[in-house]
Amino acid sequence: MRIVKIIALTAIAIFIGTAAVNAADTVKDGKTLYLGEKYKCFSCHGEKGEGGKGPSFKGVGKKHTAPEMMKLAAHNCPPTGACSPKDISALVDFIRTL
Ligand code: HEC
Repeated sequence: MRIVKIIALTAIAIFIGTAAVNAADTVKDGKTLYLGEKYKCFSCHGEKGEGGKGPSFKGVGKKHTAPEMMKLAAHNCPPTGACSPKDISALVDFIRTL
């Protein structure tokens, strides 16, 4: 059935499109968090991730696996648990674009 195929392909296209938009959103959220006063990541890693007191993030996404990145990105969280997994995930999405 040709029509079924078309419907299936359309559904897949919509799904992929939505996923891409969601990823773009988390990158934007991650950037806001990165530059924000709450975590101050930028104060050590530079406003563009160029490094400073901490290492540069250039190509860091290729250096570590995604779970490793989640762990590393939380290294400076206050012990009060102020970094939510959602924030860390968005921060990692952003850092991986650098
Ligand atoms: C007080 C300074 C400081 C702040 C603030 C800071 N970092 Fe770091 N960061 C470092 C230093 C120094 C290292 C390297 C040594 C280490 O691993 O602890 C590092 C390492 C890392 C690494 C591993 C880099 C690599 O090349 O392996 C990641 C990822 C990272 N930081 C993410 C973050 C994120 C995300 C934030 C904000 C939530 C943040 N850092 C805030 C100083 C800082």
